[in-house]
Amino acid sequence: MKFFVDTANLEELDQCLQRGFPSGVTTNPSILSKEQRRDFRLHINDMIGLLLKYQCDIPLSVEVFTADPDEMISQAEEFLGHFGHYPNLNIKVPVGWNELKVIAELRRRSIKVNCTCCMSYNQALMAARAGANYVSLFWGRIRDIGYDAGSIVRQVHQTFKEWHSSSEIIVGSIRHIADINEALQAGADILTVPPKFFPQMCGHPKTDEAVSQFVNDFRKWMGAEPTNGAAKAA
Ligand code: E4P
Repeated sequence: MKFFVDTANLEELDQCLQRGFPSGVTTNPSILSKEQRRDFRLHINDMIGLLLKYQCDIPLSVEVFTADPDEMISQAEEFLGHFGHYPNLNIKVPVGWNELKVIAELRRRSIKVNCTCCMSYNQALMAARAGANYVSLFWGRIRDIGYDAGSIVRQVHQTFKEWHSSSEIIVGSIRHIADINEALQAGADILTVPPKFFPQMCGHPKTDEAVSQFVNDFRKWMGAEPTNGAAKAA
C-alpha cells in the first residue's frame, strides 16, 4: 500500500516530501490549472527540483493535454525532452480505444505509463493489457453517477491478481477520508490523495488529549506551570 500526492502545488508538495511518506506524485491538467499561470514546463521542473531536493526517486505522473492520439505521442516526447532528466517520469494517458495505441507505443519505447480516467472494470483491464504500469480508477467520479467504486476496485484487484498482472491500481478522485480507507480495503495498491487530507489522517482528538496530559503531568511534577493545551486536558 502506497500514498501518492495528488497535487501540483509546490508548497503542499514540499510539506509532504518533508514528511517522507509520499511514494509518488500525480498531476493532471486541471490540477496544474489551479496554480498561478506560467509555463507548465517550468512548473513541472520546479516540482522535479523539490523531488530531487529530498532525494526522491518516486513516480511523477504528468498528463497529456490533448484528445488526439498522435499529439499525445508528441506531447509525451516533449515531456521526455523537458523532464526526462527525472528518472521516474510517468506519462499519464486517458483510457480509450485510440488511447490504447498511445499506451502500447509508449510502453514499446519503455516509457512508463499511468492510464488515467478509468471508471469501469473493463477499462482497467484493457489498460493493463495494453501495458500500462498504473491504472487509475476515479473513486469519487464513479460514485458521482451512482456506481459502487468499491466493487469495481475489488474486481480489478482480483483479476490483476489472477493474471499476475504487473499493473498497479491507483485510486484517485478522493473526496473524503473514508474513501481512502474503503479503497484500500477494496484492494487499491496506491491511493493518490489531495494534500489537505494528510494532516487529518495523522490527527486524533484522543492523541491530543494524551499528549497534553503527558506534558502537563510532567510539568506539574517539575513544578512548572501547565501549558495551555495541557491545562485543558488536565
Ligand atoms: C488522479 O490521478 C487524478 O489526478 C485525480 O485524483 C482526479 O480526481 P478528481 O475527480 O478530483 O478530478
